[in-house]
Amino acid sequence: MRPRIPAGVLLGLALAGPVAGGAVPLGLPPLAQTGTAPATRAQVELGRKLFMDRRLSHNGTLSCAMCHVPEQGFTSNELATAVGLEGQTVRRNSPTLYNVAFVRRLFHDGREFSLENQAWGPLLAANEMGNPSIGHVIERIRGLPDYAGMFRRAYRSGPDVVTIGRALAAYQRTLLSANSPFDRWRYGGRREAMEASARRGFALFVGRAGCAACHTLGPRHALLSDGRFHNTGIGYARSMGLRRTHHVPLAPGVSIEVDDSALAAFEAAPPDVGRYEVTLDPADSWAYRTPTLRNVALTGPYMHDGSLPTLEAVVDFYDRGGIDNPGRSPLVRPLGLSAAEKAELAAFLRSLTGDNAAALARGARRGLGPEAAAPAPAKDARSRPAGASAQ
Ligand code: HEC
Ligand code: HEC
Repeated sequence: MRPRIPAGVLLGLALAGPVAGGAVPLGLPPLAQTGTAPATRAQVELGRKLFMDRRLSHNGTLSCAMCHVPEQGFTSNELATAVGLEGQTVRRNSPTLYNVAFVRRLFHDGREFSLENQAWGPLLAANEMGNPSIGHVIERIRGLPDYAGMFRRAYRSGPDVVTIGRALAAYQRTLLSANSPFDRWRYGGRREAMEASARRGFALFVGRAGCAACHTLGPRHALLSDGRFHNTGIGYARSMGLRRTHHVPLAPGVSIEVDDSALAAFEAAPPDVGRYEVTLDPADSWAYRTPTLRNVALTGPYMHDGSLPTLEAVVDFYDRGGIDNPGRSPLVRPLGLSAAEKAELAAFLRSLTGDNAAALARGARRGLGPEAAAPAPAKDARSRPAGASAQ
């Protein structure tokens, strides 16, 4: 009997096929654009298991999935900035992992280039998963009996610095999400797929509001990000300690708005100069990567510091022209939108939610089950590494 496989995982299965570039949801570019070879099912399932596994943190409490929560848009909806091992603060917001396969420069400041290498950032950061060394992580996984055989089936070798990164990358590349109302309307030619207010919001997005200058769209697909770095003023305001309101979670689903001045902790916000930290070019001060807007209704709070709690707050922020500062992008300027126009822009942003978010979340928890035990076809392990990146 064939086991029932959740839809989110079917996507992973599709990716395990021999051909890259075909199996993407409507609205995304071909996978070939990522410059990576497709992974096998065994590799994706191994990566999924590692991603969900709390034993990968130094004290066994924190998994990747606890900051990139599958049911919360692969981010943390209740945290402006992430919280790591033993409650330590992380200075930035956990970005969503939807469509991360297409991100060429990773992290808010673009300091990393491949998912294979990126994974070691959180595994070793003292305030995230807190492991003392690469070798420590490898020995830990070697000692876990439920991984015995999985690495060999996936990569024909044991856990090591390369295979751990490759497996986590292979899984994350399956988190594709599109075929949203917007995609069905714009790329599927279905006029009724997107409601009228969202269509008017789209006209503003590509027109007078100037959003598409940075959140770019192509004629056949859209990532809604130029992959570049811009200063909108958010980082500047935080560094300068300008008064801002913050969304503070009290309990799941319950939060309050608090002014900066009421929170001593925010006065001691760790320094963050954005892209400057990578390039050391003063012109890059407080510039952050343009995020994708796909599934943005699911991935709040917003901006690199999670300081804007809702899409309405983001639209208001842009309408005011961001926050003025010497390095502000000339593309961010006061817009003078009416209340109705702001609502239309927000409606457009809400139309970018893909059709498989629930399936991807279920897939993260369930994985392939017994199917995962099937050995990978012999040639897969030897073909171009799934992690090989042309970036
Ligand atoms: C303590 C919370 C936390 C944990 C645990 C965590 N992350 Fe993250 N993750 C973050 C934050 C915060 C950032 C952004 C950091 C920055 O930009 O400097 C991030 C960034 C990323 C990115 C870059 C995404 C992008 O769009 O640039 C990827 C990929 C990622 N994490 C994957 C992982 C994986 C894989 C694991 C487990 C090995 C993991 N994360 C564990 C909080 C976390
Ligand atoms: C100059 C380039 C630029 C323009 C123009 C621009 N954005 Fe952005 N957008 C960015 C950058 C950069 C960020 C991330 C800022 C940060 O992390 O602090 C961002 C963040 C966002 C976010 C938050 C996404 C997330 O996951 O945190 C939304 C929503 C958004 N923009 C919507 C819009 C809309 C709507 C417009 C038009 C009114 C617009 N943007 C215009 C560059 C731009």
